[in-house]
Amino acid sequence: MSVAATPASVHVRAPGKINVYLGVGDRQDDGYHPLATVFQAVSLYEDVIARRAADFSITVTGDVDPDTVPLDDRNLAMRAAKLLAAAADYHGGVALEIRKSVPVAGGMGGGSADAAAALVACDALWGTGFSQVRLHELAARLGADVPFALHGGTAVGTGRGDQLNPALARGRFDWILITSDEGLSTPAVYSRLDEIRGIDGALADDPPPSLDVPVAVLHALRAGNAEDLAETLANDLEDAAFDLRPELEQRLLHGVRAGALRGIVSGSGPTIALLCADPESAQHVQAVLRETGVDSLHVHGPVPGARILA
Ligand code: C5P
Repeated sequence: MSVAATPASVHVRAPGKINVYLGVGDRQDDGYHPLATVFQAVSLYEDVIARRAADFSITVTGDVDPDTVPLDDRNLAMRAAKLLAAAADYHGGVALEIRKSVPVAGGMGGGSADAAAALVACDALWGTGFSQVRLHELAARLGADVPFALHGGTAVGTGRGDQLNPALARGRFDWILITSDEGLSTPAVYSRLDEIRGIDGALADDPPPSLDVPVAVLHALRAGNAEDLAETLANDLEDAAFDLRPELEQRLLHGVRAGALRGIVSGSGPTIALLCADPESAQHVQAVLRETGVDSLHVHGPVPGARILA
């Protein structure tokens, strides 16, 4: 495609995620932990608008503390744009505008959604025409959660969480999210897990135990049954997140007392995700929480992955 035929700007929306199941193996010598996880994309989105420019730049808007979001190469969306440019041998730049809604460092893959959206937006802006497979490959090089933000829906993730297989999910699941003002560092949560397991930062010599997503999780998703899914919610990072932020456990119990089926720490936290029976029940939980001074968000999943808006 010639440059003249490409648009002047492209607007892409990518979802945040909840890990409805997160099994974590022992740390490997590359520093990563093997995972068996099930992601669900939820209706809390990052919007990325890419505009033609000679250089690379980022602006961020939304309800975020500007100090927590870097605007240079530490920003995953910036790295995504530059990685695509290098892979496509594209010599121009891009001005990225990120409109954030997913909590920063909240365990919901907000930065990964930015990166996935930037890949899709720049691909269209520059007329790169990369296949989904190629974009997935680049996404996996940026971070473990980036491929899922491209993919969306519901999917089983293995490896670092970047090897995806779609999972069937019927209907809609309603979640109430309690966010935190202060994020949690993902590496810090994984390190605390290592400490809790007695690995104490040393590398695990033994081969990792085999990790599998329990079939009950997949059955509940396939049946669209929130009660059954609630029974199977699990997150191996939860104790580590509670250890670093003891108030999270109270927050989770508070949500369950408000009428949620069950609560879980989302990814590495600190966002608490409360699964509710249906939309009405979620509204009720949100109202009860509000009465006790706790703000929350009502989202649902699954929703599609990064896509261009008309
Ligand atoms: O891939 P990503 O940049 O999102 O990962 C951030 C950090 O989280 C890694 O550097 C690593 O410390 C930890 N991590 C891990 N095992 C995974 C995914 C992430 O230990 N499967």
